[in-house]
Amino acid sequence: MTDFMRSIICSKQETKEPFYVLDLGAVTTPMDRWTRALPTVQPYYAVKCNPNLNFLGAMAALGTNFDCASQAEIESILSLGVSPDRIIFANPCKAESHIKYAASVGVNLTTFDSIDEIKKMQCKNGTQNDSGARCPLGSKFDALPEEVETLLRATQTAQLTVVGISFHIGSASTDSFAYQQAIAAAKTAFEMATKLGMRQMSVLNIGGGIMANSQFDETATVVKAAIQSCFGNYSGLAVIAEPGRFFAESVFTLATNIISKRIRNELREYWIRDGIYGSLNCIILDNAIVKCMPVALTSNLENPTCKGSRTYNSTVFGPTCDALDTVLRGYQLPKLQLDDWLVFSNMGAYTTAAGTNFNGFNTSAIPTYLAYLNPKF
Ligand SMILES: Cc1ncc(COP(=O)(O)O)c(C=O)c1O
Repeated sequence: MTDFMRSIICSKQETKEPFYVLDLGAVTTPMDRWTRALPTVQPYYAVKCNPNLNFLGAMAALGTNFDCASQAEIESILSLGVSPDRIIFANPCKAESHIKYAASVGVNLTTFDSIDEIKKMQCKNGTQNDSGARCPLGSKFDALPEEVETLLRATQTAQLTVVGISFHIGSASTDSFAYQQAIAAAKTAFEMATKLGMRQMSVLNIGGGIMANSQFDETATVVKAAIQSCFGNYSGLAVIAEPGRFFAESVFTLATNIISKRIRNELREYWIRDGIYGSLNCIILDNAIVKCMPVALTSNLENPTCKGSRTYNSTVFGPTCDALDTVLRGYQLPKLQLDDWLVFSNMGAYTTAAGTNFNGFNTSAIPTYLAYLNPKF
């Protein structure tokens, strides 16, 4: 990867714009891990995490289905030739026009957590502990346990078919056992549906939240055990999930050049061409901790990664005229010059997807170069 990035940087010394590398070959790695650990859980990749079309195409080719949250996301998945029955419209609170659009193109699986949402869907044709999550969702979405019966009854009145129960334990969760609690709560909702004489439910959607770190195997074990203990005797159950960062995080790498520099005593301050209002919004919006490595193609051509070089207390700023636009503080970097580069790995999750055009630095204009560094793909 470093050599590939270096070759692009060398050819880009003229334009000096930031860029991404998507390692399409590496997309198979999280997919292999998922299939080995959770073979009976069908992933619906959460498009919101990273909607890069090349990445979505690779995911579709590898057999994932898709979680879309809006009309535009559905359109981009359909544009890849993916059939609508491989899409779940997993936004519990949807614009009415988007519901109509989804119904018109045959996307018929969706989620809800309120009576008003049921009423909206009527004419057109799923609770958990998320305190262990870096980005909890429960304050905005969720049916409370005491609301489940009322909601299920309302779907009967609205003549909607409830096929299952969906939850999300919050994004980037470190609490594997939150899945255990949520699966048990889903079981209670399944039992409630049976009590109300509804058609037997057949889908358990365990949402997203899983990270591709060393905790993954433990989480997968907890999930499988909870499904077995709660639904072991339940026939005809399909278990699905909506992972986002698990698949997207590690396969994108960002490179951005140093556009300005200031030295104050021992402190070295660098300005780069992408920042908090761009890809690195993940530091604020996703509570991400980012790391970078230098590629000093201007100041240290012989040893561009500066291996063994003395490092200094450094600050890295984004390009906009806002002091909030600070990417790293107290970070150790070697002595760098203008037009050296900083390379950020693991930049695929919740980065470009939420970047802005603030101060004229247009995140969506950052190009993505494709690499096939894993011969398995
Ligand atoms: C409804 C829904 N599904 C799936 C996801 C993906 O979560 P993650 O990227 O943590 O797997 C999110 C993220 O916020 C979400 O809101």
